Amino acid sequence: MSLSGYYICVVLLKQMNANPYIKFKRKFTLPTMIDLFHSGHQINTISSFKDLVSTPFHGDVNAICWKRKLIGDFSEIVNKIDLNENMIVVEQAELHELKLSKNGQLARDILLNDFNLLKTNGASPTLNLIRHYERDDIYPYFPTDVYSFHVDRSPIPTDTFLCTYHGEPSEIIPNSQAEQKVLVPEIRDELKKLYDGPDNGFESFLSEYFFDLHYRAKPDANLINLGIGHLWKIATDYPESQVLPCVHRAPKEKDGQTRLLMIC
Ligand SMILES: [Fe+2]
Repeated sequence: MSLSGYYICVVLLKQMNANPYIKFKRKFTLPTMIDLFHSGHQINTISSFKDLVSTPFHGDVNAICWKRKLIGDFSEIVNKIDLNENMIVVEQAELHELKLSKNGQLARDILLNDFNLLKTNGASPTLNLIRHYERDDIYPYFPTDVYSFHVDRSPIPTDTFLCTYHGEPSEIIPNSQAEQKVLVPEIRDELKKLYDGPDNGFESFLSEYFFDLHYRAKPDANLINLGIGHLWKIATDYPESQVLPCVHRAPKEKDGQTRLLMIC
C-alpha cells in the first residue's frame, strides 16, 4: 500500500496576528471565485485571520474560509523557482533570495506573512510547488492518493489549513453528497479479497491501510472549488470531534500549470 502524498499535520493553535493585507494598495488582483451556491451550510466565511483561528466548526459547518483578494504576481514566483521534480518544498530562505518585480515582491510578502501567521499559531506550514502528486495505482478501484476524496485524520484535536495561490485550487464536497467507499458493497467485497485475517480484524485492516478515509461523490454531487488566495480551515477526523471531517481532494492539474499551495 502506497501512502505517498498522504499527510496528517498537527496544528496547535496559539495567538493570532492582525490582517497584514490592508496596508497594500490593490495593484494586481487575483481571481477569487468560490462556488458557494452549492455549499449548503458547510462553509462559514469570515474576514480575518483572527476569526479564522477562533471560529469553531459547528453543526454542518466543517470548512471556514478567510475570503481574500490577494495582490501580487504569484506566477512570477512560480516561474522563477526551478521545479526539477514533480513536487518540491519551497523554503522561506529561497523566497527571500528571489529577484522579483514589484508585483512579485507583493506576492512574496503575502507568502511570508502567511507563513508567519500560521507559525505564530503553532502550525508548521509547508509551501509546495506541485506539477503533480504521486499516483497510487496499486489498486485501480481504490487509489489512496490525494486525488481521491478523503478526510484527514489526527490522533489529537487539530485542523487542516490550506491556501492555493497559483494553479488549480483544491476541492471539497458536502458530506451529504459523498459516501465512504468502504461502505459501498461492491468496493467492500473487493477489499475483503485483500484481507486474509480473522473476521473481527477487518475494520482494523481498513483503518490501518487508510481505506476508511476515502469517499466517492454521489451522482449529481456538487463539488466546491476552494478558489485562489483564500485561506481555509477544514475539519479533520479526530477522537471526540463535534463535526464531520471535511471531505476534500487535490484537483487534477491543468497541463503546464504549476500549483503553489501552502498547507499544514
Ligand atoms: Fe488531505
